[in-house]
Amino acid sequence: MSLLDLVRGCTFDDFLFTPQYSVIERRDPSGIDLSSPLSRNLTLKRPIVSANMDTITRAEMAIAVAEEGGIGIIDRGFRTGDIEPQVREVERVKRRQHGIIGDPYTVRPDASLTEASEMMNRTGVGTLVVVDEARRVVGLLTTRDLRFSSNDGRVRDRMTPREDLIVREGVIDSGEAEAVMRASKIKKLPLIDAGGRLLALVTAKDLIKQKQAPAATRDAHGRLRVGAAIGAKGDYLERAAELRRAGADVIVIDIAHGHSVVMARAVEAFRRQFGDAELIAGNVATAEGVTFLVDRGVDGIKVGIGPGGGCTTRLNTNFGVPQVAALVDCRMAAAGRVPLIADGGVKRDGSLIQALLFGGDTVMLGSALAGTIETPGDTVQKPVVIPESHKTVKVPFKVFRGMASLQAIVDRLDVEDSSVADVEALGAEGMEISVPARGSVRPVLRDMLKHLCSAISYGGAGSLAELQKKFRDHPERYVIRLTESSRRESFDR
Ligand code: XMP
Repeated sequence: MSLLDLVRGCTFDDFLFTPQYSVIERRDPSGIDLSSPLSRNLTLKRPIVSANMDTITRAEMAIAVAEEGGIGIIDRGFRTGDIEPQVREVERVKRRQHGIIGDPYTVRPDASLTEASEMMNRTGVGTLVVVDEARRVVGLLTTRDLRFSSNDGRVRDRMTPREDLIVREGVIDSGEAEAVMRASKIKKLPLIDAGGRLLALVTAKDLIKQKQAPAATRDAHGRLRVGAAIGAKGDYLERAAELRRAGADVIVIDIAHGHSVVMARAVEAFRRQFGDAELIAGNVATAEGVTFLVDRGVDGIKVGIGPGGGCTTRLNTNFGVPQVAALVDCRMAAAGRVPLIADGGVKRDGSLIQALLFGGDTVMLGSALAGTIETPGDTVQKPVVIPESHKTVKVPFKVFRGMASLQAIVDRLDVEDSSVADVEALGAEGMEISVPARGSVRPVLRDMLKHLCSAISYGGAGSLAELQKKFRDHPERYVIRLTESSRRESFDR
């Protein structure tokens, strides 16, 4: 029986994999290659993508996921025409961690300390380079200089002046910068040209971060990578232009049904305006959908119609494809021409390796990350009754919702639905739920990655790519279709 026949109508909990002879001594992400392509020209060291949902990925989540080796896609759940908030999220990620900061924030010496302080708060940046009208460096102002200050003076009164600074002429690499900073025991090193004009800034914090997170997903300038989602109508091209200007590394055209005339128009218009800029499109769940997008020249494809934790598409429309069947079908159609993102339905860590073997090159996660500190939204205390004691305790919760839930649509007055006046008639295909608030997403991701390494070990391979090849060459050696009782034995706990 072909793999396609075996998985027809099936999803994650329908399968286990047969353990193979293990060749790994240590199941540890630092020693096992988990790298995988996100799109034609972008590769991640860890195959994790945080979902473009307004209760999952804004800057904080995107930073955490990129530092752990994956990437976050900033959602498009902002009001139509209101592009700036999404752009700001992208900027915050691109600013967070640098090798050498090519365009540091600057301030004039005669600016007020209040202005400088506001700029630091707004941008989250703790060091401003003080420059004159010719962009010559005249000083540095850091949060430390503002401490205990009433803020009613001028920048020049508080800054460290140029004559007390160590600067370096010309552009140097981060190794050289580190040597200069270590020798002169400084934490900030402005780089200037022969005329004293500001070229760049190096900070010790960034250099340390680079060392601490060697798997982080970075661009050529050492900045964290980030993606951003757009729609396929309304302001989507203008949004894409602004997001790209802010440094988004990849744009994702994300609509519920990506195999559509709307998508055809959007991809064509995107290519016309932005040439070969990195573009992922979705969602689709069929071979025809994949071929359609490959033919239009996208660089990556998001696969998944209806498996998402916050999604009611299948309930409301009865359309969709069980996610494992969709992944196998889509992988065969893609035939290695573009990477696929397995999007949705991963509820337990064991499904990660399934998503990656059946068809995904990377996996997009929504509900699996919900409730963590880095997700947007407030934590609310809700009363919960403890069954044993019948006592009521307050438990912290956060909201997780499908992007097509009524609440999310109303919040952003969705582009596609903006002409619909009657809220009841919006045709929601998602729901809103409360999930228990938990700690940082970082240990959640690290646990997942450790489990992924264990899975690679059980699979008899030394890297993710090797296991994918072995599995795809001989799926019959791995795939066990479960019965009702073996499924209970496996997953009911
Ligand atoms: P998980 O299972 O990780 O899935 O929570 C995340 C994915 O779910 C999709 N998504 C939706 N699908 N209606 C849908 O049909 C919705 O309202 C909705 N919101 C999110 C999306 O692909 C996401 O990445």
